[in-house]
Amino acid sequence: MHHNDRVSFGSRLGAILAAAGSAVGLGNIWRFPYETGNHGGAVFILIYLGCIFILGLPIMIAEFTIGRHSKASTGEAFKVLAPKGYWKWVGYLGVLTGFLILGYYSVVAGWTLEYVFEAATGQFAGKSSSEFVSMFQQFSQNPIRPLIWLTVFMLLTHFVIVKGVQKGIERSSKVLMPLLFILVVVLAVCSVMLPGAEKGIEFLLTPDFSKITPDVFLGAMGQAFFSLSLGMGCLSTYASYFGKETRLGHTAMSVGLIDTFVAVLAGLIIFPAAFSVGIEPDAGPSLIFITLPNVIQQAFSGVPLLAYVCSILFYVLLALAALTSTISLHEVSTAFLHEKFHFTRSKAATIITVSCLLIGIVSSLALGDWSSYTIAGMNLFDALDFLTAKIMLPLGGMFAAIFVGWVIDRRIVRDEVTNYGTLKATFYPVYIFILKFIAPIGIALIFMNELGLLG
Ligand code: PFF
Repeated sequence: MHHNDRVSFGSRLGAILAAAGSAVGLGNIWRFPYETGNHGGAVFILIYLGCIFILGLPIMIAEFTIGRHSKASTGEAFKVLAPKGYWKWVGYLGVLTGFLILGYYSVVAGWTLEYVFEAATGQFAGKSSSEFVSMFQQFSQNPIRPLIWLTVFMLLTHFVIVKGVQKGIERSSKVLMPLLFILVVVLAVCSVMLPGAEKGIEFLLTPDFSKITPDVFLGAMGQAFFSLSLGMGCLSTYASYFGKETRLGHTAMSVGLIDTFVAVLAGLIIFPAAFSVGIEPDAGPSLIFITLPNVIQQAFSGVPLLAYVCSILFYVLLALAALTSTISLHEVSTAFLHEKFHFTRSKAATIITVSCLLIGIVSSLALGDWSSYTIAGMNLFDALDFLTAKIMLPLGGMFAAIFVGWVIDRRIVRDEVTNYGTLKATFYPVYIFILKFIAPIGIALIFMNELGLLG
C-alpha cells in the first residue's frame, strides 16, 4: 500500500523535532527518575546509557528504514516490505503496544494538569514535605478527579491528531520543544544549588556496582526503549512522513542525544532536590509529584512569587512534553485504522480516543479503589507498565532489528541509510553487525537473565 501522495513533514528540522517530541516525555521526566531511584542510581544510568547507544540508536535507524521505505504506518509497513509470512504480526503487535501505553500514560499526563491547576491556584504555598505526600495520595486515589483530567488530556491529544500531520504534530513540536529545553535547564540549576544537593548528585554519578541485579538490566533496557519511543513502530510511523532529504543516522543521533540530555537533566532536577528535603529516591511513580513542589517551595522560600511561577512552569512543561508523546502514541493506532480499514482520520481517531479512555479509567482506578485487584503482585496500572515497557517494547525492538538485519533486501537497507548513495556509509558495517547479532542476542540475554536462566 504505497501512497505516493503521502503527506510529509515540511523540513528536516521538522522531522527531528517531531521525533524528539515523541521521545521526550513523561518517560524522561517522570519515569526515568523513579526507575533510576528504584534501581540504585548511577549504576542504572550507566547501563541505561549503554542500552541507548548500543541497542537504541541502531534500532531507531532500523525503524526509520522500515517506515520511510514502506511509506506506511507500522501496522502496514511490515506487510509492505515482507508480504508473505508472519512479519505483519510484528506491526500489529506494535499497534497494540502503543494503544496500551497510551491508556495508562494518559493517566499520568492527566496528573500533570491537576498539578498545573494546583500550582496556578497557589495551593503549594507553605506546605511541608508530608503534606505534599498526602496531597498526592489523596488526589491519585480519588475515584473522580484524576478521571476528569485524564479525559481532558485525551481530548487535547485527539484535537491535535485530527488536525493532521503537518499542521498538528509538526507545528506544535516546533514551538513546544525549545520551550521545554529552556525550562528544564533553569530548574536543574535551581535544584543543584539547594542546600544538601551534593548527596543527590553523588547518587546520580557514583555507581555502586553491588546494586547490579537482573532487574537493573531489564529496567534499563525497558526504560531505553520506552524513552526513545522504540519497539512499537512509533518512530517508523513518523519516518513514513520523512522526506527523502532526511538523514536517518543523523536524525537518530539527534533524537538520542536530546532525549538523554532531558532525562539526565530531569535526574538533576529530582535527586538533589529529593535528598535536600529528605525524600527517599525510591518513592516510585509519585516521585516528581512530591519532590518537585516541595523543592520549589524551599528553594524560593524567601520569594513566594518566584516559587509560584516556577511551579506553574514546571508542570506546564511536563504537560507539554507529555502531549507531544501522547500525540505520537495516538498517531500509530489512528494511522493504522485509517490505512487498514479506510476510516476517515477523524473517525479512526475517535475510536482510539474512546477506547484508550476506557483503559485509562481502569488504570487510574487501579491506583485507588481497585488497588486490590493484582496480577503477579502488581496493580493493573503497574502491570500494564511492566508488560508494555519491559516486555512488549524490547520484543518489538528485537523483531525490528532482525527484520532489517536479516529479512529485507540489503540494497534497501543501504539505500535508506545513505539516502540513495548520497551520504558516506562509514558506520554501515557496525550498524549491520549490531542489527544482526548484538541487538537480538543482547535483548534475549537480558530476558533470560531476568528469568533466571543464566544461572
Ligand atoms: N517516549 C515517550 C516518553 O519518554 O515519554 C513515551 C513513548 C512515546 C513511548 C511513544 C513509546 C512511544 F511509541
